[in-house]
Amino acid sequence: MCGIMGYIGPRDAAGIVLGGLECLEYRGYDSAGVALAEGHKIGISKCVGSVANLKAQLAKNALSGKMGIGHTRWATHGGVTRENAHPHVDPDGKVVLIHNGIVENFHELGEEFSKKGVRFASETDTEVAAFLISSLYKDDPLLAIREACARLRGSFAFVILFSDIDDRYYCVRKGPPLVLGAAAGEAFCASDVTALLPYTHDILFMEDDEIAELSTEGIALYGFDGTRKEARTKTVDWDASMTSKGMYPHFMLKEIEEQGSVLRKTLTGRIGNADEGGSGEESAGKGGIDLNAEFPFSEENARSFRRVHLVACGTSCHAAAVAGRLADKFTGLDVRVEAASEYRSGSVICDAQTLAIFVSQSGETADTLAAARQARAKGARCLAVTNAVNSSLARELGAVLELRAGPEIGVAATKTFMGQLAALTLLVLWIGKRKGNLSREKELRLTEELARLPMKLEKILGQGETLRKMAESYKDAFGFLFIGRGASHAIGMEGALKLKEISYVHAEAHAAGEMKHGPIAILDVHLPVVAIAPKDDLYEKTLSNIQEARARNAPIIAVASEGDEDIRRFSNDCFFVPGTENELTPFLTVVPLQLFAYHLASILGREIDRPRNLAKSVTVE
Ligand code: G6P
Repeated sequence: MCGIMGYIGPRDAAGIVLGGLECLEYRGYDSAGVALAEGHKIGISKCVGSVANLKAQLAKNALSGKMGIGHTRWATHGGVTRENAHPHVDPDGKVVLIHNGIVENFHELGEEFSKKGVRFASETDTEVAAFLISSLYKDDPLLAIREACARLRGSFAFVILFSDIDDRYYCVRKGPPLVLGAAAGEAFCASDVTALLPYTHDILFMEDDEIAELSTEGIALYGFDGTRKEARTKTVDWDASMTSKGMYPHFMLKEIEEQGSVLRKTLTGRIGNADEGGSGEESAGKGGIDLNAEFPFSEENARSFRRVHLVACGTSCHAAAVAGRLADKFTGLDVRVEAASEYRSGSVICDAQTLAIFVSQSGETADTLAAARQARAKGARCLAVTNAVNSSLARELGAVLELRAGPEIGVAATKTFMGQLAALTLLVLWIGKRKGNLSREKELRLTEELARLPMKLEKILGQGETLRKMAESYKDAFGFLFIGRGASHAIGMEGALKLKEISYVHAEAHAAGEMKHGPIAILDVHLPVVAIAPKDDLYEKTLSNIQEARARNAPIIAVASEGDEDIRRFSNDCFFVPGTENELTPFLTVVPLQLFAYHLASILGREIDRPRNLAKSVTVE
């Protein structure tokens, strides 16, 4: 949450900082601001609304400088006002600071300072932090920051300018992510790698409890105890062009349409090519799953697993729920799927015989990180399934299965969901294989079909216009009820979430069998039911639920398998997906739901890539 960008070097800092903020707007967009240092003079411009508003404001009152910092905000403390927008300046005007995170003891500190007569201009925790640093600053900025950090509780990523220092700025990380990059005579910082890709691919991922000094000489890294650390960098192979919308009106549509290629990438090298034979020892013979190179646990470990926990937030949790169904069927383990925020606050049985899988696109979600730390402390074997191999989750767990989806910018996750489905399916089947619960014949059938799925996905993606027309005819609906059974229930949850996130239309999802226990009461002609009813083992039961809904006059939108003529009779609208193995239907049924949500939101004129109140990466609890 909140996007941060900083620059020092020979170029105009304003352009670079604003460009970075535009790139990071998916992290928050209720207000924005920049501070530009021209010698010892620091100019500040901030406003409510998007970075576009800030740009317009700067076009009228230009600021310049060779060093600058900027922020795009997702409000936590203090409402969305210009006063609460970052950067914040301490009342003495010595320190200018931007912040992502929450300073938990800011009330206590604020009261202490107020008693001394300090008057704050905003309601934010950030301004209190700025004053704390300023009050500790004599002539050693590093010391002041270190002493301040020792007094602050909570989580924070700070970027700091000192008004009497014009050749350096400082970054601090304790919790929320901050990445740094240096090129000849320039040094950058940002909340996310995507903002640095136009300038460098050699990235320094700050660890917790680190302070960095950025100057035209490069980056000097320190621990909170003041010791100098090695400025280690990693090369990121994402391309800057991957972060542009290209010809698409929205990132979300671009990312939905990339799902065929994401699926191919996620599967590459992990399933044997049926024609060439598998690449690993395990998949000797044709086809087969091969995670030998990536599965971080020994054969012996894997055999000792008794439990598998799948823990995540939001869309990632829905991918985990789909995988949970598969794990029930193929692993023979006690399976638990839970939202990270709940998992971390319960007394979950979790030990060395537990494989705990943490699923997170960003690898920075605060609850998922906290849940992972807890499971690790209890001795569980932990694994991160993430799109960000250098994220906090990946680094802390040290065991990673990468999605390979490329950068996802749209706030509503789509292509990373597809990557998660693929990675988790492979993982679960791999465990099933090691546990002796997956027959060779079934393994081959599933892997051969997995390899065919990208083509089938592309066929669905070619029918965007059908889904747009369908969305058009439901644009006045009061709300939507999604139903499905088994993994299709999880897909219903994802379909309802997508719709809520970007169209703001009420949508809820229920296990189809639960409809009679309450949800059926809300059905009438104004409440369409979206039934996810592929031809699988549960099809007939779902069909009965569709008939029950129809008997209450609810319009029915069915997502069904090609060739299913029966379902037409009971539905107002049907969208057919190609047939596949029963266990793999989620890969296909989710896509029309993503497109339906996208088109409905577009028809309703919503800000699709920046839905209200949401942020892509939730780095605070
Ligand atoms: C936020 C995003 C969702 C995402 C969730 C979990 O709520 O808006 O799109 O699914 O966080 O994010 P993660 O990065 O952990 O998958």
